[in-house]
Amino acid sequence: MPLQREGDVTEDARSIALIGFMGTGKTTIGRAVARKLGYEFVDSDHVVERHARCTIAELFAEVGVEEFRRRETEALRELAACPRLVIATGGGAVLNPENRALLREGALVVLLTADPWVILRRVGDAQTRPLLTGYPDTLARISSLLRERQPAYDLTAHVRVDSSGRSVDATATRIVEIYTRQEQRSTP
Ligand code: S3P
Repeated sequence: MPLQREGDVTEDARSIALIGFMGTGKTTIGRAVARKLGYEFVDSDHVVERHARCTIAELFAEVGVEEFRRRETEALRELAACPRLVIATGGGAVLNPENRALLREGALVVLLTADPWVILRRVGDAQTRPLLTGYPDTLARISSLLRERQPAYDLTAHVRVDSSGRSVDATATRIVEIYTRQEQRSTP
């Protein structure tokens, strides 16, 4: 049952965008948030995959990272214009200043964080994550990419929520509380 009470937020209320590194739970937690609010859930990676008719790993192999990033921006342009969505973004979406602006303008941007070893456990053998494959030490690769990206995550986020020690449900409930409070405050 949606947690949100009728009349809590308006018809054109902002969307919620989840940003953060691979394995921080954007998709799983995003689905739970959407269910609680009665909003539609969309994953920008899935939009890119649907348009390309192949997986992200296949797309990276076929067209490379730059073309993937271009398509990712196209997907975010589409999604950021819609109200009342829960959007899970790819871990590198915040690297592009246009994406950062699109997300901040159209949504409450929530940064999900998790410790590097929690991320390592969640991404498993990393075969579906092209930016982690081919490195002898996956934990070292995760830590170095995280350090490199931290400034972009911080620039984009309105709020941050750590998912390391919390259940999916507890993290989603926390996000819904923050969102509902913020939307009520921003409603005239
Ligand atoms: C990427 C993260 C992936 C996907 C692509 C690139 C990144 O999404 O967009 O492999 O640059 O961190 P997830 O964060 O959903 O795994």
